[in-house]
Amino acid sequence: MRLLFVGDVVGRPGRNMLEARLPKLRQKYKPQVTIVNGENAASGKGITEKIYKNILGFGAQVVTLGNHTWARNEIFSFINDETNIIRPLNYPPGAPGRGQTSLNVNGLELVVINAMGRTFMEAIDCPFQALDKAVEEAKKRTPFVFVDFHGEATSEKQAMGWFLDGRASAVIGTHTHVQTADERILPGGTAFLTDVGMTGPYDGILGVDRDVVLKKFQTSLPAKFEVAKGRSQLNAAFMEFDDKTGKARKIERILINDDHPFDV
Ligand SMILES: [Fe+2]
Repeated sequence: MRLLFVGDVVGRPGRNMLEARLPKLRQKYKPQVTIVNGENAASGKGITEKIYKNILGFGAQVVTLGNHTWARNEIFSFINDETNIIRPLNYPPGAPGRGQTSLNVNGLELVVINAMGRTFMEAIDCPFQALDKAVEEAKKRTPFVFVDFHGEATSEKQAMGWFLDGRASAVIGTHTHVQTADERILPGGTAFLTDVGMTGPYDGILGVDRDVVLKKFQTSLPAKFEVAKGRSQLNAAFMEFDDKTGKARKIERILINDDHPFDV
């Protein structure tokens, strides 16, 4: 099974980059399933129904979220009805929407799970307990389990990789917006990357207008963050899982920007 995962799409620049680059990425890597983290897709925070549907229209099958899931009120009007948008699994029971979804990929079942860390993040239920349960349930049906683990601390993300090694096909980190260079296949067969990075402005600070961020750092005064303008980038990872065992055979980081041009 071939899977492409695109890191945190930030605002219009991220959506434009996705629309422009996804067809060529799909041509090169021929993924059978494409997953996009879209929690920053609407002006940097949250997502709307229209944007969610646009992302599916660009060629994705699943959109994952994170700490900005509820940033826009509109989310409550469609998250219960749409099966292919998932929010962190470890919100307390009763949260709208779902934390996982199941897809038929050329006759094979793929379970996609979104979870969120809780180190340097808002209080939420234990991601280790939640993922342990969800992955064990999924494994009764299929060996193909993909986890987007949305977290701030590299240590917590690495811990989750090792926790699920040999149980998930892949554990890929999101949220910090800077791609890490530690892609690997853990000994048990789980593809791992601490953070896949972001898709959107290249010359901002984590996608935000850098003048605003610089001012905030220097004055400690409140500031309204806006999505940066200018050049764009796309960050992603491509994985291949063994069609019988579900174990990862390959993980490749994808980084496209003016300093790392894309070659097909
Ligand atoms: Fe986030």
